[in-house]
Amino acid sequence: MLGPVNHIAIAVPDLAAAIALYERLGADVSAPQDLPEHGVTVVFIRLPNTKIELLHPLGERSPIAAFLAKNPSGGIHHVCFEVADIGDAGRTLAESGVRVLGSGEPAIGAHGLPVLFAHPKDFGGALMEFEQAATPAPRP
Ligand code: CO
Repeated sequence: MLGPVNHIAIAVPDLAAAIALYERLGADVSAPQDLPEHGVTVVFIRLPNTKIELLHPLGERSPIAAFLAKNPSGGIHHVCFEVADIGDAGRTLAESGVRVLGSGEPAIGAHGLPVLFAHPKDFGGALMEFEQAATPAPRP
C-alpha cells in the first residue's frame, strides 16, 4: 500500500530563517503559501527524491502553534506517504489496527488531494499522513 514518501513536514518557529538556510544550501524553495483553512503557512523545499514541507502557524487556532508550544525550536511534524487509492488505504489501516484521526474518512489536505492521518500511538510515536497520488494507478 505504501508508495513513495511525498514529503516530510517540519514545523519551524522562524519561517524566514528556515527559508534563508535552505536557499543558502542551494535548494529549490517555493514561495510561502497561506492555507487559512488548515491554519498553516507552507513552503516546499523540492529535493531530487522528495520534498520537505516547512510548516508555520497561521491564525489563532493553528494546530502548528500547539506543536511549537511543546517544541519551541521546531521539529519533525509528520511524514507523508503516497497511496494509489485513499479509500483502500483507509480500509487497510483499519484492518491493521491503526486508528485514523478525525472522522476516519478522507479529507482534502494541504495540497488539494484526499488525505488520512494515522494516530501516532499506532505508528511508533510518529504522525503519518497518507495522500492519494495525483495520478492514481489504474484499477485492476
Ligand atoms: Co503533509
